[in-house]
Parts: sequence; C-alpha cells; structure tokens
Amino acid sequence: MTSSTCFLLLFLLLLSSSTSGVQHHEEGFISITISDKGLDFAKDILIDQAVDSITLSQLPDIEETVQVPLVGKARVVLSEITINDIQVNSSSVNTGETGIAVVVSGATANLSLKWRYSASSWLVPIGISDSGTATAKVNDLQVGLTVNLTNQEGTLKLLLLDSGCHVRDLSIKLHGGAAWLYQVLVDAFAGSIASGVEEAVSDQINEGISTLDVLLQSLPKTYPIDETAALNVSFVNNPELSDSAIELEINGLFIGRNEILSPQGYHRGSDVSVSRANPSPKMITISLHENVFKSGSLVYFTADTLKWTVDELPDQNLLNTAEWRFLIPQLYKQYPNDDMNLDVFVSSPPDIQVTNKDVGVQISIDIILNVLEAGEVVPVACISVDFSASCAAEIIGNNLAGWLKLKKFSTYLKWSKIGKLHVNLIQSVTSAVLKTVLIPYLNSQLVRGIPLPILNDFALENARILYAPPWITVSSDVSFFGHYHHKHLPAYVS
Ligand SMILES: *[C@@H]1O[C@H](CO)[C@@H](O)[C@H](O)[C@H]1NC(C)=O
Ligand SMILES: *[C@@H]1O[C@H](CO)[C@@H](O)[C@H](O)[C@H]1NC(C)=O
Ligand SMILES: *[C@@H]1O[C@H](CO)[C@@H](O)[C@H](O)[C@H]1NC(C)=O
Ligand SMILES: *[C@@H]1O[C@H](CO)[C@@H](O)[C@H](O)[C@H]1NC(C)=O
Repeated sequence: MTSSTCFLLLFLLLLSSSTSGVQHHEEGFISITISDKGLDFAKDILIDQAVDSITLSQLPDIEETVQVPLVGKARVVLSEITINDIQVNSSSVNTGETGIAVVVSGATANLSLKWRYSASSWLVPIGISDSGTATAKVNDLQVGLTVNLTNQEGTLKLLLLDSGCHVRDLSIKLHGGAAWLYQVLVDAFAGSIASGVEEAVSDQINEGISTLDVLLQSLPKTYPIDETAALNVSFVNNPELSDSAIELEINGLFIGRNEILSPQGYHRGSDVSVSRANPSPKMITISLHENVFKSGSLVYFTADTLKWTVDELPDQNLLNTAEWRFLIPQLYKQYPNDDMNLDVFVSSPPDIQVTNKDVGVQISIDIILNVLEAGEVVPVACISVDFSASCAAEIIGNNLAGWLKLKKFSTYLKWSKIGKLHVNLIQSVTSAVLKTVLIPYLNSQLVRGIPLPILNDFALENARILYAPPWITVSSDVSFFGHYHHKHLPAYVS
C-alpha cells in the first residue's frame, strides 16, 4: 500500500448517493448527518492527503526527436520529472442529485526535471550533446471529481462517476542550455509535461477512490461491545443526500454475541428533525433512537448477565440472622446465628425511555435472601423491587456514556418461608443492594458507553447532547489527528 491508501480516506465523511426513488426502506436506529461544515472539513483533509500523495511523485520520462534549424536532428530526453509542490488556493464540495462533486481550481504546482540532448547533422557529423536541469510551473490546475455511494448489503460501495484534471497554464525555466532548446521544450514538450501531470493526478484519484472503496467494504458489520453484546453497524438504506447535508443510517441495535438474537418489532416512529434547528451548526450529528438502548437492555437481560450474588455489604451485620432476632424471630429460631447472602437478579428487561431531559430507566429486580447453613444455601424469602433511575448522557471520548442516579423505589415481599418480614429489613436490604451493588455496577458498565460510529483518527470535539424523544442527538465538530501516509486501514470505531 502506498500513500494513496489514505488519499481519499476522508471520503468516508463525504459519502454520497442520489436520492433515488424506489427502494426497500429498512429501519435505521442510528443516523449520522454530515453537514456542509462537516463536508467542507472532510474535503480539506482529503485535499491535503491528495496533495501529499502526489507530491514527489515522478512522471514518466519524455523523449522526442526534433528537427532543429542549424543544429539538425536532436534527440531530447526529459527525466526525473518530479512534482515538488502543489498549492491549492480554492476548492469546493457540492452535494447534488447524482453524487458529491469536489472541485479544485487554480491550483499551482512546481516541477523539477533533468534534460539532455544529443544532436547531429550532416553539417556537424561529430554531434553535440549537453545536459542540465529545468523547472516548470503549473499555474492553473483544475481538478474535479464526482462520486456516488450506494448501500450494498449493509456496506457502502463507493463509485467514481467522473473525474477530470486539466492543466491550463505551464511555464518552463531552463537552467543552462541553448535558446533553441528552450523553444523546443516549449513547443514540443510542454504539452507532454502537462498531460503527465494530468495523468499523475487522475491516477491518484482512481487509486484513492478504489482504496477507499476497499476500506468501506472492509468495515465490519458488527462491532463487539463486550463478551455479551455487539452493535449491528450494518448500513441500511442508501445514503440520503440533500443540498446541505448527507444522512447515513445504520441499523444500530444491539445483538447477542453467542446467539443470533434478532430483536423484532422495533419501529423508528417519529423522525429526527431537531438537528437542523441548532444555532451554530456542527460538523456531524449522530442520532440514537431509544430502541438502541432498549435492544441493549434486552440483549444483556436475555444473556442472563444481570444477576449477582451479594455476600458483602457495608453493614455486614445485615447478613447474619442474629441481627434480625428481634424483628424476625422465626428466622433466628430456625437458623440461629447463620450468615446470609443475597441473590439479586433483574427480573424483566429494563425499560428505557428518552425524555426531554434525560434517559429514564425502570428496572425490576428480585432479591432472594439466602441463609447459609451447614454448607447449604437455603432461600428463605424474596423481595421484589421496582425502581426508577435517571440516566444523564455524556460523551466520553468517542463514546456515548451515561451516569445513572436512583430516583425512587418501591418494594414488596414476593414470598417468604419465615413469615412476614419487617419493613425495616426490606428497606435496609433493598437500599443497600441498590446503592452498593446495582447502581455502582450499572454505572461501571454505562461509563464505558456505546461507541459512536466515528472512524479511527477522528475525535469528537465540543460535542453537545440534545434530548429529542425518542432520540438522543449528539452534535459535534470533529478533529483529525491521523497522519498522512498512515499505513493502516482504520477500524470502524475507536
Ligand atoms: C447513485 O446511487 C444511487 C443509489 O444510492 C443509484 O440509485 C444511482 O443510480 C446512482 N447514480 C449513478 C449515476 O450511478
Ligand atoms: C486565490 O483565489 C482568490 C479567489 O478565490 C484569488 O483572488 C487569488 O488571487 C488567488 N491566489 C492565487 C495565488 O492564485
Ligand atoms: C514554487 O516555487 C516558487 C519559487 O521557487 C515558490 O515561491 C512557490 O511557493 C513554489 N510553489 C508553488 C506551488 O508555486
Ligand atoms: C443487522 O442489521 C441489518 C440491517 O438492518 C439486518 O439485515 C441484519 O439482519 C442485522 N443482523 C443481525 C445479526 O441482526
């Protein structure tokens, strides 16, 4: 892989397609909108990368035999024709009906080259020869290209529809050499040098686009979150293009890693329309439907991961029957001075709802009280708890993380082999379990967050979170910290 590997890397942010009519419309629960500002940003990085990969490239040698008055037949060879420097003054990117067009106009370039010639004629049969260097300057280089992007079975296919490169003005400066040579270079070689430059640029565009296409195809369709869950990051539908933005949709739902769990019955409901009213537009807006969180809740619940055995509490006395001898005499009578532990499990998939100010979470758990007697675990009672919590979304790195706060809970005794439990016991146990086990555990998971679909080498900057039920939208600028000539294909997300 050469530098062109990343020539058009940034095109991932420049995805395009036509907004075609008849298509199968699937549901996407994460959508990515790239604004004008984002496109412009991507375009600039793209051009930097392109310039970088073209600079120092060498054009093929050019050789001509020309008839020069008085000198005779001269064989002139230009070699080591090197593009030393390109300066792009103005460029633009436009989204249109059929794709995205990038135009660079009025770029300038410096070239250096070596020349040599040998000439002979019947007048001067011994012949003459000379060699030296020259520089050439391209004063007006125009480059344009249009790409289309379509969804092919969940991955994106990038197609170069059209590209062109045109050198409008080229001047040559000879170091040494004769006046006739200068004239020959101008008359017979300028055109070839210009086409050499045009070809070099066009080759880079073709190579860059196909490299980028390979990169797009190699993006995984699922992204592992942990040993339990993965995120389905298949693209759905064709990218949608308007004159101010490009919208990409990905499936975005959690799936179990071991079983093929296909959560059915999710519907997007209302559409995202909040992003466009933002006061200062950001480069990208990523919207996550609450179904993303619901699917996560379902996957972790189904995988049976939401359960814990608790044998330590801050107030360890709670876990001994002796502590309860007055409040629950029966317990103490049957199991005097025995240690206890708790089995805690979430009893139904937690319900998650995006509200105007947070993400509301409703969780039901069962707490089974066990007595540990003679090496045996004896369940003696079960407390059910319904609690609600408020989750504040935040951006950590390129992840959407959350922080859960308990709001309120209610309890009831589900069953008991030791008679009616004192309300004190129920409250103490429940609040200890919530505060020391469940909420801390959930927060340790939530803080890792859901990876947002951002390419490696890009970082969210000044992200802003907006609650727009049933969506959470993250509007953000993006910074690029990749290096030109980066040899790796980036993975999907950080
Ligand atoms: C561009 O892509 C769309 C699908 O996104 C497709 O329908 C259309 O035919 C493509 N246009 C061209 C010119 O290839
Ligand atoms: C760059 O472009 C601007 C207009 O876009 C023009 O006024 C200026 O002369 C250009 N500079 C060079 C060095 O070509
Ligand atoms: C080309 O060379 C000239 C003088 O040597 C310099 O001023 C200019 O910045 C160089 N680069 C371009 C792209 O013209
Ligand atoms: C992932 O999403 C795509 C597009 O919606 C869907 O066709 C595919 O079945 C999903 N994969 C799984 C494993 O659910």
